[in-house]
Amino acid sequence: MLALRNIHMALAILSVVGFILRAAWAFMGSPVLKSKPVRILPHVNDTLLLVLGVVLAYGLGWPVTSGWLAAKLVALLAYIGFGVVTLRATTNPMRLVGVVGALSCVGYIFMVAFTKNPLPFA
Ligand code: HEM
Repeated sequence: MLALRNIHMALAILSVVGFILRAAWAFMGSPVLKSKPVRILPHVNDTLLLVLGVVLAYGLGWPVTSGWLAAKLVALLAYIGFGVVTLRATTNPMRLVGVVGALSCVGYIFMVAFTKNPLPFA
């Protein structure tokens, strides 16, 4: 399980790095954003991240009632939503809203993951 968790963590870091890169390209209006690898690789990474998360959660007896896993999943949906806003926005202020929202959500997800507490700042 330790190896799987390490892979899950590495994929989580790659997801954030990939998002920051794509957000930067979106701000610059770069055509790189439309290239095939840049469109496909994040989906491969994020699908593996999710699948490993489900496997890890299953290994822990699916602790959704403890709160932290549910909080992570809700924040994950928000991270995805803000990511879509960032990459589809047609103006830079809207892109900024997306980036700030997405990075706040994923920062919260990391805090919840490490503390196993849905209120990690409390
Ligand atoms: C952007 C999304 C995600 C990020 C950034 C993330 C991040 C992390 C990190 C950093 C850890 C390691 C915590 C530690 O060592 O104490 C972790 C563990 C874990 N993650 Fe995620 N995760 C994400 C998505 C998910 C999803 C979607 C699920 C479930 C469906 C999930 C389930 C788990 C479980 C169960 C563990 C604990 C494993 C254990 O303690 O044995 N994660 N996650």
